Amino acid sequence: MPVDQQTSAVASPARQTVCVTGAGGFIASWLVKVLLHRGYTVRGTLRNPDDPKNSHLRELEGADQRLILCKADLLDLESLREAIKGCDGVFHTASPVTDDPEQMVEPAVNGTKNVIIAAAEAKVKRMVFTSSIGAVYMDPNRSPDAVVDESCWSDLDFCKNTKNWYCYGKTVAEQAAWEVAKEKGVDLVVVNPVLVLGPLLQSTINASIVHIQKYLTGSAKTYANSVQAYVHVKDVALAHLLVYETPSASGRHLCAESVLHRGEVVEILAKFFPEYPIPTKCSDEVNPRKKPYKFSNQKLKDLGLEFTPVKQCLYDTVKSLQEKGHLPILPQNNQEEAALRVES
Ligand SMILES: NC(=O)c1ccc[n+]([C@@H]2O[C@H](COP(=O)([O-])OP(=O)(O)OC[C@H]3O[C@@H](n4cnc5c(N)ncnc54)[C@H](OP(=O)(O)O)[C@@H]3O)[C@@H](O)[C@H]2O)c1
Repeated sequence: MPVDQQTSAVASPARQTVCVTGAGGFIASWLVKVLLHRGYTVRGTLRNPDDPKNSHLRELEGADQRLILCKADLLDLESLREAIKGCDGVFHTASPVTDDPEQMVEPAVNGTKNVIIAAAEAKVKRMVFTSSIGAVYMDPNRSPDAVVDESCWSDLDFCKNTKNWYCYGKTVAEQAAWEVAKEKGVDLVVVNPVLVLGPLLQSTINASIVHIQKYLTGSAKTYANSVQAYVHVKDVALAHLLVYETPSASGRHLCAESVLHRGEVVEILAKFFPEYPIPTKCSDEVNPRKKPYKFSNQKLKDLGLEFTPVKQCLYDTVKSLQEKGHLPILPQNNQEEAALRVES
Protein backbone atom coordinates (compact mmCIF):
# COMPACT_ATOMS: atom_id res chain seq x y z
CA MET A 1 0.00 0.00 0.00
CA PRO A 2 1.37 3.49 -0.78
CA VAL A 3 2.99 5.30 2.14
CA ASP A 4 0.45 8.15 2.16
CA GLN A 5 -2.51 5.74 2.40
CA GLN A 6 -0.97 3.73 5.24
CA THR A 7 -0.31 6.79 7.37
CA SER A 8 -3.55 8.63 6.60
CA ALA A 9 -5.10 7.32 9.84
CA VAL A 10 -2.77 9.47 11.94
CA ALA A 11 -3.07 13.24 12.22
CA SER A 12 -1.12 15.00 9.52
CA PRO A 13 1.96 16.54 11.17
CA ALA A 14 2.72 20.23 10.98
CA ARG A 15 5.87 20.76 8.99
CA GLN A 16 8.62 19.65 11.33
CA THR A 17 12.34 19.09 11.22
CA VAL A 18 13.53 15.68 12.35
CA CYS A 19 16.98 14.14 12.61
CA VAL A 20 17.80 10.63 11.34
CA THR A 21 21.14 9.22 12.53
CA GLY A 22 23.15 7.06 10.12
CA ALA A 23 20.94 8.29 7.27
CA GLY A 24 22.80 6.35 4.56
CA GLY A 25 22.11 2.89 6.04
CA PHE A 26 19.59 0.35 4.69
CA ILE A 27 16.73 1.11 7.09
CA ALA A 28 17.58 4.79 7.62
CA SER A 29 17.55 5.51 3.86
CA TRP A 30 13.99 4.18 3.69
CA LEU A 31 13.10 6.19 6.77
CA VAL A 32 14.46 9.37 5.17
CA LYS A 33 12.47 8.58 1.99
CA VAL A 34 9.23 8.06 3.94
CA LEU A 35 9.77 11.19 6.08
CA LEU A 36 10.48 13.36 3.02
CA HIS A 37 7.39 11.94 1.31
CA ARG A 38 5.38 12.85 4.40
CA GLY A 39 6.56 16.48 4.23
CA TYR A 40 9.17 16.58 6.98
CA THR A 41 12.43 18.46 6.70
CA VAL A 42 15.13 15.91 7.50
CA ARG A 43 18.59 16.40 8.97
CA GLY A 44 20.42 13.16 8.18
CA THR A 45 23.67 12.41 9.98
CA LEU A 46 26.52 10.64 8.17
CA ARG A 47 30.07 9.90 9.20
CA ASN A 48 31.18 11.04 5.77
CA PRO A 49 28.67 13.06 3.72
CA ASP A 50 31.10 13.12 0.78
CA ASP A 51 31.37 9.35 0.51
CA PRO A 52 29.78 8.34 -2.84
CA LYS A 53 28.01 5.47 -1.04
CA ASN A 54 25.64 8.10 0.42
CA SER A 55 24.82 9.79 -2.90
CA HIS A 56 21.47 7.98 -3.23
CA LEU A 57 20.09 10.20 -0.46
CA ARG A 58 20.40 13.33 -2.60
CA GLU A 59 18.30 11.64 -5.30
CA LEU A 60 15.30 10.98 -3.04
CA GLU A 61 12.11 12.87 -3.88
CA GLY A 62 12.07 16.13 -1.89
CA ALA A 63 15.76 15.85 -0.94
CA ASP A 64 16.82 18.93 -2.88
CA GLN A 65 14.38 21.06 -0.85
CA ARG A 66 14.18 19.37 2.54
CA LEU A 67 17.17 17.09 3.21
CA ILE A 68 20.20 18.48 5.04
CA LEU A 69 23.16 16.12 5.46
CA CYS A 70 25.33 16.68 8.54
CA LYS A 71 28.64 15.09 9.45
CA ALA A 72 28.38 13.31 12.81
CA ASP A 73 29.81 10.34 14.65
CA LEU A 74 27.97 8.59 17.47
CA LEU A 75 31.01 8.91 19.73
CA ASP A 76 31.33 12.65 19.09
CA LEU A 77 28.67 14.35 21.23
CA GLU A 78 29.43 17.81 19.84
CA SER A 79 28.72 16.65 16.28
CA LEU A 80 25.39 15.17 17.40
CA ARG A 81 24.48 18.40 19.22
CA GLU A 82 25.06 20.33 15.98
CA ALA A 83 22.90 17.91 13.98
CA ILE A 84 20.01 17.68 16.46
CA LYS A 85 19.86 21.36 17.50
CA GLY A 86 16.55 22.86 16.35
CA CYS A 87 14.93 19.50 15.57
CA ASP A 88 11.41 18.55 16.70
CA GLY A 89 12.16 14.84 16.75
CA VAL A 90 15.00 12.33 16.44
CA PHE A 91 15.14 8.88 14.86
CA HIS A 92 18.24 7.12 16.18
CA THR A 93 18.93 4.35 13.69
CA ALA A 94 22.73 4.41 13.37
CA SER A 95 24.56 1.51 14.96
CA PRO A 96 27.39 -0.79 14.08
CA VAL A 97 26.03 -4.14 12.86
CA THR A 98 28.81 -6.59 13.72
CA ASP A 99 29.76 -9.35 16.14
CA ASP A 100 33.15 -7.75 16.85
CA PRO A 101 32.80 -6.69 20.51
CA GLU A 102 35.17 -3.73 20.21
CA GLN A 103 33.45 -2.27 17.18
CA MET A 104 29.95 -3.06 18.42
CA VAL A 105 29.39 -2.33 22.08
CA GLU A 106 30.82 1.13 22.71
CA PRO A 107 29.32 2.95 19.68
CA ALA A 108 25.98 1.18 20.20
CA VAL A 109 25.74 1.99 23.90
CA ASN A 110 27.59 5.29 24.34
CA GLY A 111 26.39 6.48 20.93
CA THR A 112 22.79 5.96 22.03
CA LYS A 113 23.42 7.80 25.29
CA ASN A 114 25.00 10.68 23.36
CA VAL A 115 22.02 10.93 21.00
CA ILE A 116 19.63 11.09 23.97
CA ILE A 117 21.75 13.78 25.67
CA ALA A 118 21.70 15.86 22.47
CA ALA A 119 17.96 15.22 22.03
CA ALA A 120 17.27 16.33 25.62
CA GLU A 121 19.29 19.53 25.14
CA ALA A 122 17.36 20.27 21.94
CA LYS A 123 14.09 19.60 23.83
CA VAL A 124 12.76 17.35 21.07
CA LYS A 125 9.13 16.28 21.27
CA ARG A 126 9.86 12.59 20.78
CA MET A 127 12.77 10.28 20.03
CA VAL A 128 12.40 6.95 18.22
CA PHE A 129 15.16 4.39 18.76
CA THR A 130 15.77 1.52 16.34
CA SER A 131 16.46 -1.40 18.65
CA SER A 132 16.27 -5.02 17.46
CA ILE A 133 14.78 -8.47 17.99
CA GLY A 134 18.32 -9.08 19.26
CA ALA A 135 17.36 -7.19 22.43
CA VAL A 136 14.20 -9.32 22.78
CA TYR A 137 14.72 -12.91 21.71
CA MET A 138 18.01 -14.28 23.12
CA ASP A 139 16.75 -15.98 26.27
CA PRO A 140 17.48 -19.70 26.69
CA ASN A 141 15.05 -19.91 29.63
CA ARG A 142 11.95 -18.82 27.68
CA SER A 143 9.54 -21.71 27.07
CA PRO A 144 9.44 -22.83 23.41
CA ASP A 145 5.67 -22.26 23.49
CA ALA A 146 5.90 -18.71 24.87
CA VAL A 147 4.79 -15.86 22.64
CA VAL A 148 7.70 -13.50 21.96
CA ASP A 149 6.49 -9.95 22.51
CA GLU A 150 7.56 -6.58 23.88
CA SER A 151 7.81 -7.92 27.45
CA CYS A 152 10.74 -10.22 26.52
CA TRP A 153 14.37 -9.21 27.01
CA SER A 154 17.52 -10.98 25.84
CA ASP A 155 19.67 -12.51 28.56
CA LEU A 156 22.98 -10.63 28.70
CA ASP A 157 24.97 -13.56 30.13
CA PHE A 158 23.65 -15.84 27.38
CA CYS A 159 24.64 -13.28 24.70
CA LYS A 160 28.11 -12.97 26.26
CA ASN A 161 28.63 -16.73 26.64
CA THR A 162 27.57 -17.36 23.05
CA LYS A 163 29.73 -14.40 21.88
CA ASN A 164 26.67 -12.82 20.28
CA TRP A 165 28.08 -9.32 20.64
CA TYR A 166 25.56 -7.74 18.28
CA CYS A 167 22.64 -8.86 20.46
CA TYR A 168 24.59 -7.99 23.59
CA GLY A 169 25.33 -4.48 22.30
CA LYS A 170 21.75 -3.85 21.13
CA THR A 171 20.33 -5.09 24.47
CA VAL A 172 22.63 -2.92 26.57
CA ALA A 173 22.01 0.01 24.20
CA GLU A 174 18.23 -0.30 24.55
CA GLN A 175 18.45 -0.66 28.33
CA ALA A 176 20.67 2.44 28.45
CA ALA A 177 18.25 4.29 26.16
CA TRP A 178 15.32 3.71 28.53
CA GLU A 179 17.42 4.70 31.56
CA VAL A 180 18.95 7.88 30.12
CA ALA A 181 15.67 8.96 28.46
CA LYS A 182 13.92 8.72 31.84
CA GLU A 183 16.70 10.61 33.58
CA LYS A 184 16.75 13.37 30.93
CA GLY A 185 12.98 13.54 30.45
CA VAL A 186 13.04 12.49 26.77
CA ASP A 187 9.84 10.95 25.36
CA LEU A 188 11.32 7.71 23.95
CA VAL A 189 9.56 5.13 21.78
CA VAL A 190 11.32 2.00 20.50
CA VAL A 191 10.93 -0.17 17.38
CA ASN A 192 12.39 -3.70 17.54
CA PRO A 193 12.65 -5.02 13.97
CA VAL A 194 13.42 -8.64 13.16
CA LEU A 195 15.65 -9.43 10.16
CA VAL A 196 14.89 -6.74 7.58
CA LEU A 197 14.60 -7.50 3.85
CA GLY A 198 13.40 -5.66 0.76
CA PRO A 199 14.71 -3.26 -1.86
CA LEU A 200 17.99 -1.46 -1.25
CA LEU A 201 18.10 2.27 -1.81
CA GLN A 202 21.85 2.42 -1.15
CA SER A 203 24.43 0.98 -3.55
CA THR A 204 26.24 -1.13 -0.92
CA ILE A 205 24.96 -4.36 0.67
CA ASN A 206 24.18 -4.45 4.40
CA ALA A 207 24.34 -7.48 6.71
CA SER A 208 20.67 -8.53 6.62
CA ILE A 209 20.68 -8.64 2.81
CA VAL A 210 23.79 -10.88 2.80
CA HIS A 211 21.61 -13.38 4.72
CA ILE A 212 19.62 -13.90 1.48
CA GLN A 213 22.32 -13.13 -1.09
CA LYS A 214 24.43 -16.09 0.08
CA TYR A 215 21.68 -18.53 -0.99
CA LEU A 216 21.77 -17.24 -4.58
CA THR A 217 25.48 -16.97 -5.30
CA GLY A 218 26.41 -20.58 -4.59
CA SER A 219 28.43 -19.56 -1.51
CA ALA A 220 25.99 -21.38 0.82
CA LYS A 221 25.99 -25.07 -0.14
CA THR A 222 23.50 -26.06 2.56
CA TYR A 223 20.99 -24.26 4.79
CA ALA A 224 21.03 -24.27 8.60
CA ASN A 225 18.50 -26.01 10.80
CA SER A 226 17.26 -22.75 12.26
CA VAL A 227 14.40 -20.29 12.13
CA GLN A 228 14.31 -16.54 11.60
CA ALA A 229 11.66 -13.81 11.67
CA TYR A 230 11.47 -11.40 8.73
CA VAL A 231 9.98 -7.99 7.94
CA HIS A 232 9.92 -5.64 4.93
CA VAL A 233 12.15 -2.55 5.10
CA LYS A 234 9.32 -0.25 4.02
CA ASP A 235 7.19 -1.56 6.90
CA VAL A 236 10.06 -0.89 9.32
CA ALA A 237 10.27 2.71 8.09
CA LEU A 238 6.49 3.10 8.38
CA ALA A 239 6.58 1.64 11.90
CA HIS A 240 9.06 4.37 12.89
CA LEU A 241 6.79 7.03 11.38
CA LEU A 242 3.68 5.62 13.09
CA VAL A 243 5.21 5.46 16.57
CA TYR A 244 6.55 9.00 16.10
CA GLU A 245 3.27 10.46 14.92
CA THR A 246 0.88 8.62 17.24
CA PRO A 247 0.88 10.43 20.59
CA SER A 248 -0.50 7.38 22.42
CA ALA A 249 2.25 5.07 21.13
CA SER A 250 4.58 4.10 23.96
CA GLY A 251 7.20 1.52 24.91
CA ARG A 252 8.64 -1.10 22.58
CA HIS A 253 7.15 -2.31 19.27
CA LEU A 254 8.04 -5.71 17.85
CA CYS A 255 8.22 -5.29 14.08
CA ALA A 256 7.88 -8.74 12.49
CA GLU A 257 5.80 -10.31 9.73
CA SER A 258 6.51 -14.03 10.00
CA VAL A 259 8.97 -16.67 11.14
CA LEU A 260 10.36 -19.14 8.61
CA HIS A 261 12.67 -22.12 8.79
CA ARG A 262 15.66 -21.73 6.46
CA GLY A 263 14.23 -24.67 4.51
CA GLU A 264 11.15 -22.58 3.73
CA VAL A 265 13.30 -19.59 2.72
CA VAL A 266 15.26 -21.60 0.16
CA GLU A 267 12.04 -23.21 -1.14
CA ILE A 268 10.43 -19.81 -1.74
CA LEU A 269 13.60 -18.47 -3.38
CA ALA A 270 13.85 -21.54 -5.63
CA LYS A 271 10.22 -21.16 -6.67
CA PHE A 272 10.70 -17.52 -7.70
CA PHE A 273 14.25 -17.80 -9.01
CA PRO A 274 15.01 -21.40 -10.05
CA GLU A 275 17.95 -20.24 -12.18
CA TYR A 276 20.20 -19.69 -9.13
CA PRO A 277 22.21 -22.42 -7.33
CA ILE A 278 19.99 -22.38 -4.23
CA PRO A 279 20.84 -25.04 -1.61
CA THR A 280 18.42 -27.95 -1.22
CA LYS A 281 20.05 -29.75 1.73
CA CYS A 282 20.04 -28.93 5.42
CA SER A 283 23.47 -28.92 7.09
CA ASP A 284 21.95 -30.77 10.07
CA GLU A 285 20.70 -34.23 9.13
CA VAL A 286 20.55 -35.46 12.73
CA ASN A 287 18.34 -33.21 14.83
CA PRO A 288 14.61 -32.64 14.30
CA ARG A 289 13.69 -29.63 12.21
CA LYS A 290 13.54 -26.46 14.40
CA LYS A 291 10.02 -25.12 14.85
CA PRO A 292 9.09 -21.48 14.26
CA TYR A 293 8.49 -19.51 17.44
CA LYS A 294 5.28 -17.62 18.20
CA PHE A 295 5.39 -13.84 18.32
CA SER A 296 3.03 -10.90 18.57
CA ASN A 297 3.11 -7.89 16.25
CA GLN A 298 -0.26 -6.69 17.59
CA LYS A 299 1.03 -3.35 18.93
CA LEU A 300 2.05 -2.16 15.46
CA LYS A 301 -1.06 -3.66 13.85
CA ASP A 302 -3.16 -1.72 16.36
CA LEU A 303 -1.40 1.45 15.19
CA GLY A 304 -2.54 0.61 11.65
CA LEU A 305 0.53 -1.06 10.16
CA GLU A 306 -0.23 -3.63 7.46
CA PHE A 307 2.71 -5.99 7.11
CA THR A 308 3.98 -7.02 3.69
CA PRO A 309 3.95 -10.85 3.29
CA VAL A 310 7.35 -12.49 3.69
CA LYS A 311 7.23 -13.98 0.16
CA GLN A 312 7.10 -10.43 -1.20
CA CYS A 313 10.03 -9.45 1.06
CA LEU A 314 12.13 -12.26 -0.42
CA TYR A 315 11.07 -11.49 -3.99
CA ASP A 316 11.77 -7.74 -3.62
CA THR A 317 15.19 -8.45 -2.10
CA VAL A 318 16.35 -10.59 -5.01
CA LYS A 319 14.92 -8.22 -7.64
CA SER A 320 16.74 -5.34 -5.96
CA LEU A 321 20.03 -7.27 -5.80
CA GLN A 322 19.67 -7.89 -9.55
CA GLU A 323 18.79 -4.27 -10.32
CA LYS A 324 21.74 -2.96 -8.30
CA GLY A 325 24.12 -5.34 -10.08
CA HIS A 326 24.84 -7.50 -7.00
CA LEU A 327 23.45 -10.64 -8.66
CA PRO A 328 23.79 -11.66 -12.30
CA ILE A 329 20.52 -11.89 -14.21
CA LEU A 330 20.70 -15.45 -15.52
CA PRO A 331 19.23 -16.44 -18.91
CA GLN A 332 16.47 -18.70 -17.55
CA ASN A 333 15.07 -15.79 -15.59
CA ASN A 334 11.52 -15.24 -16.75
CA GLN A 335 10.51 -12.02 -15.03
CA GLU A 336 6.84 -12.14 -15.99
CA GLU A 337 6.45 -15.69 -14.79
CA ALA A 338 8.20 -14.87 -11.51
CA ALA A 339 5.92 -11.88 -10.99
CA LEU A 340 2.91 -14.15 -11.44
CA ARG A 341 4.33 -16.63 -8.94
CA VAL A 342 4.63 -13.87 -6.31
CA GLU A 343 0.91 -13.14 -6.67
CA SER A 344 -0.11 -16.77 -6.09
N1 LIG B 1 18.81 -4.84 9.02
C1 LIG B 1 18.28 -5.57 9.98
O1 LIG B 1 17.92 -6.75 9.77
C2 LIG B 1 18.04 -4.99 11.35
C3 LIG B 1 17.19 -5.69 12.22
C4 LIG B 1 16.94 -5.15 13.49
C5 LIG B 1 17.51 -3.95 13.86
N2 LIG B 1 18.35 -3.30 13.00
C6 LIG B 1 18.93 -2.04 13.45
O2 LIG B 1 18.60 -1.04 12.50
C7 LIG B 1 19.63 -0.06 12.44
C8 LIG B 1 20.08 0.12 11.02
O3 LIG B 1 20.52 -1.13 10.51
P1 LIG B 1 20.75 -1.37 8.95
O4 LIG B 1 20.43 -2.77 8.67
O5 LIG B 1 20.11 -0.30 8.19
O6 LIG B 1 22.35 -1.27 8.92
P2 LIG B 1 23.37 -0.48 7.98
O7 LIG B 1 22.85 -0.39 6.61
O8 LIG B 1 24.68 -1.14 8.23
O9 LIG B 1 23.37 0.96 8.63
C9 LIG B 1 23.98 1.25 9.84
C10 LIG B 1 24.31 2.72 9.86
O10 LIG B 1 24.90 3.06 11.12
C11 LIG B 1 25.99 3.93 10.87
N3 LIG B 1 27.00 3.86 11.93
C12 LIG B 1 27.64 2.79 12.39
N4 LIG B 1 28.51 3.16 13.35
C13 LIG B 1 28.42 4.50 13.47
C14 LIG B 1 29.07 5.47 14.27
N5 LIG B 1 30.00 5.16 15.17
N6 LIG B 1 28.71 6.79 14.12
C15 LIG B 1 27.79 7.14 13.22
N7 LIG B 1 27.14 6.26 12.43
C16 LIG B 1 27.46 4.96 12.56
C17 LIG B 1 26.57 3.48 9.55
O11 LIG B 1 27.28 4.53 8.99
P3 LIG B 1 28.52 4.29 8.00
O12 LIG B 1 27.89 4.16 6.66
O13 LIG B 1 29.33 5.52 8.18
O14 LIG B 1 29.22 3.04 8.44
C18 LIG B 1 25.29 3.13 8.78
O15 LIG B 1 24.77 4.27 8.14
C19 LIG B 1 20.71 -0.52 13.41
O16 LIG B 1 20.47 0.12 14.64
C20 LIG B 1 20.45 -2.01 13.53
O17 LIG B 1 20.91 -2.52 14.77
C21 LIG B 1 18.64 -3.79 11.75
